[in-house]
Amino acid sequence: MCGIIGYSGPLEAGKLLLNGLAGLEYRGYDSAGIAYFDGQSKIRVVKKVGKVAALRECAAKLGDVSHCGIGHTRWATHGGVTQENAHPHRFGRITLIHNGIIENYHQLTVEYGLEGRLVSQTDTEVAAGVLDAIYSQCGGDPMAALKAFEARLKGSYGFCILFEDHPGEIYALRNVSPLVAAYTPSGALIASDLTALISYTREYFVVPEHHIVRLTPYKVRLYDMDGNKVAPEMMEVSWNMDAAMKNGFPHFMLKEIHEQPEALKNTILPRLAKGLPDFTDDGIPDRIFADCGRVHIIACGTAMHAGMVARALMEPLLRIPVAVSIASEFRYEQPLVDAQTLVIVISQSGETIDTLAAMRLAQGLGSPALAVVNVKGSTIARESDYVLYTHAGPEIAVASTKAYSVQLAALYMICCRMGMVRGKLDQGGAKAFMGDLLDAVPAMEAMIQKKDQVRNLVTHLINAPDAFFIGRGLDYAFSLEGALKLKEISYIHSEAYAAGELKHGTIALISDRVPVIAIATQDKIFAKTVSNVREVRARGAFVILLAKESARVEEDIADIQIRIPDLADQFTVFPIAAVLQLIAYYASVGKDLDVDQPRNLAKSVTVE
Ligand code: G6P
Repeated sequence: MCGIIGYSGPLEAGKLLLNGLAGLEYRGYDSAGIAYFDGQSKIRVVKKVGKVAALRECAAKLGDVSHCGIGHTRWATHGGVTQENAHPHRFGRITLIHNGIIENYHQLTVEYGLEGRLVSQTDTEVAAGVLDAIYSQCGGDPMAALKAFEARLKGSYGFCILFEDHPGEIYALRNVSPLVAAYTPSGALIASDLTALISYTREYFVVPEHHIVRLTPYKVRLYDMDGNKVAPEMMEVSWNMDAAMKNGFPHFMLKEIHEQPEALKNTILPRLAKGLPDFTDDGIPDRIFADCGRVHIIACGTAMHAGMVARALMEPLLRIPVAVSIASEFRYEQPLVDAQTLVIVISQSGETIDTLAAMRLAQGLGSPALAVVNVKGSTIARESDYVLYTHAGPEIAVASTKAYSVQLAALYMICCRMGMVRGKLDQGGAKAFMGDLLDAVPAMEAMIQKKDQVRNLVTHLINAPDAFFIGRGLDYAFSLEGALKLKEISYIHSEAYAAGELKHGTIALISDRVPVIAIATQDKIFAKTVSNVREVRARGAFVILLAKESARVEEDIADIQIRIPDLADQFTVFPIAAVLQLIAYYASVGKDLDVDQPRNLAKSVTVE
């Protein structure tokens, strides 16, 4: 989704902003732009549809030297992908960039007489027009203007603003859409996420909502809306620069697939005490596990698929109802959650707007919210009642891989702790559970090492218009993520089906050579899934069967078989996830697509 960077300081701003935007490319965008004070302290705006590289070329031709400016990558929401709609937007004395959506933009357009005076279709240009009018009313005082401006806005926003008559200064304001800022030896910086800052600093602060930040070449100052200075809450980046580089891998996605065993260990091991899960250091009391009568998991996308796996794991073990909701649906379905419902919110970024809104709704209904989040200090992490951080490090590829597996690890540990607290697992049982979870790590590693096996099979996939992923029980939950991964980055239409449900309609789509990826790792229902494999095979499907090493089945049941190490049934998701991720990865590579930045998708979805 849209990315923001702002800089004021001794270095050449243009270059720094463009490098910063390149660091934010992973978020997904369709146009980019920068604005800066030039040598004569006049504001210059350069923007371009397409990649940052195109913008760089354009900016280089101007040959300006600047020390203060703002940059933006846009993921279109209001208005198409055009140069006019790209940010920065300029109106009168105001030039600004914006993440989020101004919901009352239409009303503001009318009220401030902006009709016919705007060149774009964006809500952001309306915001620039409104701020320009208010700035004049406030006698050119940026702080007073921003206070009055914010009082008029409805929606979500992270703004960075240049006032024409305040060269060298950047003002920022936020509600919901995240911003982080830092004063570094190289100058003052602000950005929508840390990846744009880490080459300059390890210390930063999350800009609190409804606060103003003022960046000058010498300082970053934080103010409340009444203009009082506020001491920012400083945080330290917990990963190093290497984590955000490709380090010899052709794509971030492949690198992140490889990082999974390490990320799993980082997430699991610090929370093990004598072989048992222990959340004392996370400040998560057993009370919340003991007191609840049910669990409701809320998330979007891949995180929601981790929730589906957790549901299939938890319900049989804990014997309490466990529901999973898509956050954007939960918000509008008058959910039945209450103080007895433990709400578990899952989010890599901690900023997904639907997940955040759903969590706030559940909290408003009295539910305690436990968040499983990867990004420290993110809004969901801050607003939840309890947070269990996953330690995946930065995930740059849009298609989530390592964040998914560490979310699973966190959820497995929650399940184990709940089982202990609720008397469903005795010490021995809980230790065995954690032992099985740890065994899954080398099993996953083994499948990643066998990646060539997957690379060779994708030739059977890349020309297919459709593909199906089937499985039962936990295997079905795994297949949801397999199908999502494949469609996201290879653009092959792919669907996950509960294997037994296929014959109630979807089997009509199975014809000669349609690829079906069948996951059959659950011993109890293995034979049932194999029957479904026979059904699709009989109709000509090209079947890739994923099963445990020890599973006994005829050689020719499938066109290709991939065997994973033998693990207890509940834990096979880890090696299976690696195989499914690699299938999607090599399909995308085989089709020569942009693996890390697939079309139309964004890494962090901060609009509804
Ligand atoms: C986007 C990303 C997905 C991600 C989902 C939820 O759709 O492309 O990879 O799973 O958002 O994101 P979150 O940060 O809340 O886990």
